[in-house]
Amino acid sequence: MDIYNYIRQDHRNVAALMDELLSINLSAVQERIFRKIRLELSLHAEAEEQTFYKALREASERADIEDRIVQAREDHDEIRDLMTFLINESVGGPRWMEKFGELKHAVTHHVKEEEVEMFAKARRLLSDEQAKQLARDMAKVKQTIRVPEHEPTE
Ligand SMILES: [Fe+2]
Ligand SMILES: [Fe+2]
Repeated sequence: MDIYNYIRQDHRNVAALMDELLSINLSAVQERIFRKIRLELSLHAEAEEQTFYKALREASERADIEDRIVQAREDHDEIRDLMTFLINESVGGPRWMEKFGELKHAVTHHVKEEEVEMFAKARRLLSDEQAKQLARDMAKVKQTIRVPEHEPTE
């Protein structure tokens, strides 16, 4: 498995969870799924910054790479802010659903840019071996991250 497939797998997993949440009309279940989404997104964004983005930055000092990474980190911050808002609202209410829609939109947009633009740039900068190593690194980093305010759901 290389970093591209690893990241893609995480993205598909979160997209499926977001669809699942929207298909359900029971706030207790929505809350449980949302906790999972929060955990997955937090771990993913943090580990991605520490491995994939870092490797890209190290592989090139070109301004367009730097700009892309800055933009991607801003996207992550926006996603974190939306999640923080959602933690403090009652799950399933109209305001919550509206913000959740914004979160889904932000994630979908970011994922698309990452998989299209960033992956294309990365494939030119990173060797196949590096791409494989980065997948292992990202998995390892995820195991070491502790997400505040998250208690096990099961
Ligand atoms: Fe990602
Ligand atoms: Fe990302």
